[in-house]
Amino acid sequence: MTQSQTSPSDAAPSGATASAAQGATQATTQTTSTTTPASDQHQQPPAGWRNPLRDPRDLRLPRIAGPCSLVIFGVTGDLSKKKLLPAVYDLANRGLLPVNFGLVGFGRRDWTNEQFAAFVEENVRAHSRTPFNEATWRFLSGGIRFVQGNFDDPAAFQRLSDTVSELDRERGTQGNHAFYMSVPPRAFPQVSKQLRDSGLAHSPSGAWRRVIIEKPFGHDLESAKELDRVVSDVFDPGSVFRIDHYLGKETVQNMLALRFANMMFEPVWNANYVDHVQITMAEDIGIGGRAGYYDGIGAARDVIQNHLLQLMALTAMEEPVSFQASDLTAEKTKVLSAVRVPKDLAHHTARGQYATGWQGSEKVIGYLDEKGIDPNSRTETYAAIRLDVDTRRWAGVPFYLRTGKRLGKRVTEIAVMFKRAPHLPFEQTATRELGQNAIVIRVQPDEGITLRFGAKVPGTAMEVRDVSMDFNYGSSFTEASPEAYERLILDVLLGDPPLFPTTREVELSWEILDPIEEYWATLGQPQPYRAGTWGPKEADEMLARDGRMWRMP
Ligand code: BG6
Repeated sequence: MTQSQTSPSDAAPSGATASAAQGATQATTQTTSTTTPASDQHQQPPAGWRNPLRDPRDLRLPRIAGPCSLVIFGVTGDLSKKKLLPAVYDLANRGLLPVNFGLVGFGRRDWTNEQFAAFVEENVRAHSRTPFNEATWRFLSGGIRFVQGNFDDPAAFQRLSDTVSELDRERGTQGNHAFYMSVPPRAFPQVSKQLRDSGLAHSPSGAWRRVIIEKPFGHDLESAKELDRVVSDVFDPGSVFRIDHYLGKETVQNMLALRFANMMFEPVWNANYVDHVQITMAEDIGIGGRAGYYDGIGAARDVIQNHLLQLMALTAMEEPVSFQASDLTAEKTKVLSAVRVPKDLAHHTARGQYATGWQGSEKVIGYLDEKGIDPNSRTETYAAIRLDVDTRRWAGVPFYLRTGKRLGKRVTEIAVMFKRAPHLPFEQTATRELGQNAIVIRVQPDEGITLRFGAKVPGTAMEVRDVSMDFNYGSSFTEASPEAYERLILDVLLGDPPLFPTTREVELSWEILDPIEEYWATLGQPQPYRAGTWGPKEADEMLARDGRMWRMP
């Protein structure tokens, strides 16, 4: 079915029909800015009536945001250029934004709306996932506005308030506005306060205001709590959406399908069968232009505290009674609160810092030579930790989490490694090449799932060797997976919270990481590792002490 057949009438038709959407926008504007004529009142639906075309359970219909705008603070930053603006465009191109949609940039530059629109277009053309479509662009650009100002300037927030009111009148956004804080955490308090003082944080009745907060949410438990106090002073908890973009990834959500829609995995998903779990997020890139953010933060705060602990929680949690936010969060929270940090941190954690080396055929510099990095920096660019989960299901099953920059390749995976069969009725030589059975959830880039098990090598003798059975998203489904930010921005606009970590989850994650960071702060320089390799020797030794090895992803 085509989009125009299935969309609710208020969705912006995608692609070629978007110019019709422009007309529809104007029509909506007129009806929203005047009182409803008496003749129209007959057409009001009876109380309790639900639009069947808005039933979220109907899989024929895409979930489409209602009238609203998205205001981005930090709109000229890297995240906005590479992820947020392209995601907004991709949503529009997929027909998932309404005709009454506005996009507002707030920044220091002295830009007109047109100059900002040109900036958006340039980044959309460079980074969007779906092809550039003139009609989509015409529809989107009709609602683009720019507000020039500094975070400490109340007049600028007044101008922002005027701008969203103008969108309500001209574009029909109906008082619904989401504020995306793609800014350093130190700016949250000021921006929140300005949103409160200018009245922007409070919606007229029947409308909503939401705030989206990018990570890092603090640098330890104390600072996270402080940030939370500031934000919850201004917005009620149900209007705060904390981004962990890993939860927006299809492969991560598929963990729920894999475990809870099937029969064959859950019975073996426990300490009776599982030996250990390895969660790896490896990147081949260095820190790029992010020295200001990264130095002093390091790999564990940047990635383990959020992405990897969330992956661990989804891997280890019990079945939630439903996929509603409160039920899902309840199970993730139980896991995070049952995590035990090893007592002997020297033996069960490892840190590294990339030194010069080769990435593919290119020679790359070490972390300490990167622009803007303190040459004596002790910031780790590689971190590995062992965690245990004190529950019946996971007693004695270590979870090893590792992440690093400038590693062998870009790959994120969750490998559930099984115990060896208790008895092997073969000659010892027959199973020399047999490793551990594994279920590997390939989060990215080659999205899918691999099962590793032993099979007989063809021939006259009995010889068993590891083989792989693969599920690939690319070949099993015809549609390409949306970017995580597309899903998450759409969920915010729809007010759908299951994929956003709660305050409690964020706090528990810091409770896990803080003692490790405190211990590392007492140590000297992290162990160097050559760029393009798989991290410091320390990390291999850490696993070897437990009689295990890292998987080569
Ligand atoms: C971000 C980290 O959260 O995730 C970055 O701050 C990292 O350091 C990025 O590069 C990786 O995201 P992805 O989706 O490419 O794995």
